[in-house]
Amino acid sequence: MYKIAVFVSGRGSNLRAILDSISNNISVAGVVSDKVDCPAFAIADQYNIPKFSVAEKPKSGYLNYDELLRIFSELKIDLIVLAGFLKKIPDKVIDEYEKKIINIHPALLPSFGGKGMYGINVHRAVFNRSCQVSGATIHFVDKIYDNGKIIAQKTVDISDVQSPEEIAERVLNIEHEILPEVVTKFAENKVTIKDNRVIIQN
Ligand code: GRF
Repeated sequence: MYKIAVFVSGRGSNLRAILDSISNNISVAGVVSDKVDCPAFAIADQYNIPKFSVAEKPKSGYLNYDELLRIFSELKIDLIVLAGFLKKIPDKVIDEYEKKIINIHPALLPSFGGKGMYGINVHRAVFNRSCQVSGATIHFVDKIYDNGKIIAQKTVDISDVQSPEEIAERVLNIEHEILPEVVTKFAENKVTIKDNRVIIQN
């Protein structure tokens, strides 16, 4: 069984896309949030998935990251998937899960990424630049925001959009397609890095 932990902060639509699409050799063994309550946790409850609230500083009702890492070791987590998680992952987690943490970003990195580039801010910047295409990016998480090697990208035509919200909607549909696909490729051990490039085998 290939076990993943999904990190969320809000709606959870990517979590649901993963749950609705993955085959039964992949298990979402935990859902983690910087919150104690969010719509994504309600989705975890529907699927009876353990939920963990985590904070770097001591906070009642929250685990710290050392405690979370111990739980992950007991759960034998193979991959960490950030899906709308708004906090930076501490370096010790990145060291422990080197090349085993991925993030989905709602734009074509390296454009429109970095600190503060999340949610509608991204699509507003894309709209205001009059970009004619946008899309989603899945990348490895390293110690700098939105900086790790790119694993997968898919574009969408936005030449006819009238608002940032329309871009958000089209890009979200792309996210829901590519994230479960990439998680499956990791579970099949079909993602490799060769000469600075990420290769996904068919
Ligand atoms: C997605 O747009 C994702 O690209 C970004 O945060 C959003 C999360 O949406 N990182 P949801 O919580 O999965 O619906």
